[in-house]
Amino acid sequence: RRLSRDPATQQPLAYLRLRQAIRNVIDQRGIEPGQALPSERDLSQALGLSRVTVRKAIGGLVEEGLLTQRHGAGTFVAERIVKPMSRLTSFTEDLRARGLNPRSEFFERGIGEVTPEEAMAMNLSPGAPVVRLHRVRYAGDEPLAIERSVVPASALPDPALVHDSLYEALEQRGCRPRRALQRLRAVLLTAQHARLLHVAVGSAGLAIERRSFLDDGRIVEFTSSWYRGDIYDFVAELQTD
Ligand code: GLP
Repeated sequence: RRLSRDPATQQPLAYLRLRQAIRNVIDQRGIEPGQALPSERDLSQALGLSRVTVRKAIGGLVEEGLLTQRHGAGTFVAERIVKPMSRLTSFTEDLRARGLNPRSEFFERGIGEVTPEEAMAMNLSPGAPVVRLHRVRYAGDEPLAIERSVVPASALPDPALVHDSLYEALEQRGCRPRRALQRLRAVLLTAQHARLLHVAVGSAGLAIERRSFLDDGRIVEFTSSWYRGDIYDFVAELQTD
């Protein structure tokens, strides 16, 4: 990575050097996610740099997603969310298992007719009624993903049954998915998605498509999601035959 240079000394600017130095320390010494950074004041004293320089360096790393700041608590090495790929779990379950607070904000939660493309993907008859959910998924205040789900009304007759968790609503109807096919692709987040996820336009994202099935083979959900690439690791266990 090229650093902008100071026109007088031709040295990379102090805040950029500090930013690179912090990045190296985190990468090379394997500083654990969640660990706290020294305060701005301690860093500036220890390094003989101004508070402004330290603040700018840290601010850049927060924007990059390498550090996070919590009001009143300080600056921390950002935690990534590691999700096993082989388990069919819901967003809500995954976050609760980590002690985080899952939330949804809905753009859309209504009922309509299936589109021809959806009907083909979901094995539904043309014009079948479906529930549509379009939402941003949060951990507390932090947006993590955008999801668009289509669910046949035969499995979920009323969109209002979904308060926060789709799988909870399906479970209550005896329609909890038992198996799913999932496709994961790397994408650059569009301006609209980046805005909703509070990241820079063009940041890395993971586009995930999931089709979930009941025991009898019926499809209960067709969901397209965009997850933040700076936070999520998807891991899988591999075995020989
Ligand atoms: C994950 C999956 C979605 C699924 C959702 C259900 O995010 N990618 O396909 O619809 O979990 O989560 P919840 O029950 O919290 O709505």
